[in-house]
Amino acid sequence: MIVCLCKNVSSRAIEGCIDEGATTVAEVGRGCGAGTDCGGCHCEIEELLERAACDRSGTHHLPVVQPNRKVA
Ligand code: FES
Repeated sequence: MIVCLCKNVSSRAIEGCIDEGATTVAEVGRGCGAGTDCGGCHCEIEELLERAACDRSGTHHLPVVQPNRKVA
């Protein structure tokens, strides 16, 4: 899937940069060019970075569950 439309960079290419050590959007940009134009893809790049960090640490984000609130 193409994440960065400006630079035509796929999620696989971004994941490759992350596998090679990129830990920030700027480092991903230096590695493959993603996110270096309009910046509209930064959120998606950050999601890929966050997912990779979670995978490395063995932690996963759990959905936030709001406690039931009783209305009087
Ligand atoms: S969509 Fe990635 S820099 Fe514009």
